[in-house]
Amino acid sequence: MQVMQPARLPHHYREMSSAEKEARIREAKAFFGNDLLIPGHHYQREDVIQFADFTGDSLQLAQLCGQTSSANIVFCGVHFMAETADMLTSREQHVILPDLAAGCSMADMASIAQTERAWEALTERFGDTILPLTYVNSTAEIKAFCGRHGGACVTSSNAKNMVQWAFAQKPRVMFLPDQHLGRNTAFALGIPLEKMAVWNPHTHELELPPGANIEEIIVILWKGHCSVHEKFTVEQIKNVRDRSPHTQVIVHPECTHEVVQAADKAGSTHYIIETLKQAEPGTSWAIGTEMNLVNRLAKQHPDKQVFSLHSTMCLCLTMNRIDLDHLAWSLDLLREGKRQFEITVAEDVAEEARTALARMLATV
Ligand code: 13P
Ligand code: SF4
Repeated sequence: MQVMQPARLPHHYREMSSAEKEARIREAKAFFGNDLLIPGHHYQREDVIQFADFTGDSLQLAQLCGQTSSANIVFCGVHFMAETADMLTSREQHVILPDLAAGCSMADMASIAQTERAWEALTERFGDTILPLTYVNSTAEIKAFCGRHGGACVTSSNAKNMVQWAFAQKPRVMFLPDQHLGRNTAFALGIPLEKMAVWNPHTHELELPPGANIEEIIVILWKGHCSVHEKFTVEQIKNVRDRSPHTQVIVHPECTHEVVQAADKAGSTHYIIETLKQAEPGTSWAIGTEMNLVNRLAKQHPDKQVFSLHSTMCLCLTMNRIDLDHLAWSLDLLREGKRQFEITVAEDVAEEARTALARMLATV
């Protein structure tokens, strides 16, 4: 099997009808049978998710990849998820991301060099009192860093358990790279905002809340965020409440602390899906998460009123890089024996990152 170098989508896929691309994908699935698995994150586009063998949130997809024996995993999600899949599968299994440009801007907000530099400064200040935790929305190198320093990964489904787990090991937690998930989780566990500081990797400074005492800081949040979820505001929630007082607001914990506090409920994509499933017919829901999922939930629950908290909310642009064209192209190439955009994590990094992932998977 030949491993390909990055290339551009051939023009003819843009000209092909959707029906033809769909037929090609179906043919490839029939051709490979059990040798092909297509996992799809809940934020994937409708035309792509129809081909997913399994849909899930970040935790469910990581668990699936640890259990599958399929030789080829064509991952419909973003780069950090494909990296995780590669690290949790054997050397004989191959993970392909249909478009290499499907990254995650949040994961890009913490580089390993910035993290090492922050660690040096923070351990100098606080001594050996800190345990690092990283949201799975991070590079394999950041996961390896956490593995190396006794820490673990978390997802939005298990963050509370993992923060509690971390505090059972050390008096302080450093949470990468999403400050909002870290703050919302710690606050839900009863930690006041005055005990949380933000590490700014650009100024190389710890930003303290007004009046805080540095000695009392026990949660160090990395200054990163999700550009999709940060767009939800308290103002939007107020508008919904003014217009429709009976509507319930449910948001993802990647939203800001103020938004999560103003909402009725907050939780991972899996939690949002389950809440909607269990909701009574006739209820009304304003949802603060990625638009593909909101649109899908609206379609799946015609007996309920389901709409986005942000009326002109944009999609996650990188999740949307995986489209029919790229899925059809990557599967066509795979049938020719070519693995376009195979994701492989260097073994020394993968070994330490697996330790961080294993600590999470053993705890949840
Ligand atoms: P979950 O799948 O853990 O809910 O995370 C949402 C997300 O932003 C994935 O990138
Ligand atoms: Fe990254 Fe946010 Fe997109 Fe998730 S929704 S992949 S965190 S940018």
